[in-house]
Amino acid sequence: MRLRKRMPGASRPGAARLSPYYRELEIDETPLPRLDLAPFGEAMCEVIEATRPDVVSFHFGLPAAALVARIKAAGCRVISSATTVEEARWLEAHGADAVIAQGAEAGGHRATFLASDLDRAMASQSGTLALVPQIAEAVQVPVIAAGGIADGRGVAAAFALGASGVQIGTAFLRCPEAGTSPLHREALLRARDNDTVLTNVFTGRPARAIANRLPRELGLYRRPRRISHCRWANCPCCGPRPSSRGAAISCRSGPARRSRLERKCLPGNWS
Ligand SMILES: Cc1cc2nc3c(=O)[nH]c(=O)nc-3n(C[C@H](O)[C@H](O)[C@H](O)COP(=O)(O)O)c2cc1C
Repeated sequence: MRLRKRMPGASRPGAARLSPYYRELEIDETPLPRLDLAPFGEAMCEVIEATRPDVVSFHFGLPAAALVARIKAAGCRVISSATTVEEARWLEAHGADAVIAQGAEAGGHRATFLASDLDRAMASQSGTLALVPQIAEAVQVPVIAAGGIADGRGVAAAFALGASGVQIGTAFLRCPEAGTSPLHREALLRARDNDTVLTNVFTGRPARAIANRLPRELGLYRRPRRISHCRWANCPCCGPRPSSRGAAISCRSGPARRSRLERKCLPGNWS
């Protein structure tokens, strides 16, 4: 039986590079509408105000100051990840109640949001052991260590380095409660110490992932295309750019062009 799967995003720029994979795996290249991910905005803020969770956690900086103020007024603590001391200081100055020090070992997307040169930033990411004490020295708010911590020894080390808490991601991916697919569970089980890479080929945004054929054959890093009128402050398509407000950079294009460009880009803040 022939497999006829459909891949989202096949119409995106760069799809040509993926064509050989579609053909090999007999995947239908028919373009599908992209998943429309909105940034943290008015609608999500209203949900936060109605449900009032203890903690609201962000990745890639923080939303606009007015939204952060509303989250805090609802009684929630705001946290976000920093990959450098500069980012940790920025988060504290913009209202974070705690900072996650995300070392280079961390699985998933790098939270990097203040790098003007993404290539250089990715080449100089500090490991958890080096980053946690430096951030703990630099900020007054509690520091949560993240990256490569998987058991009590790692927790003890993080606390010895000045962390007040730890965040564990990868170690939970094989828990029964996790929605991890059987294929990914198997890959995690087989992965050895040198099987992960820092790459942006999966989403456009640098992330630590288990290396499969894609980064091996396409290269670890593809330079992001900067869309001059992109509205997101930290766009995986255009690369991160500093915004003193931590908010979306306003788009000078007309509505039609703006909406077309926005569809190409993922939101600035994930939570
Ligand atoms: C599969 C995966 C998905 C993740 N998704 C998110 C996310 O949506 N939001 C977020 O703030 N961090 C996310 N993270 C990052 C974690 O919050 C954290 O930085 C990291 O997992 C810690 O390092 P560790 O994976 O070595 O434990 C993700 C991590 C992994 C492995």
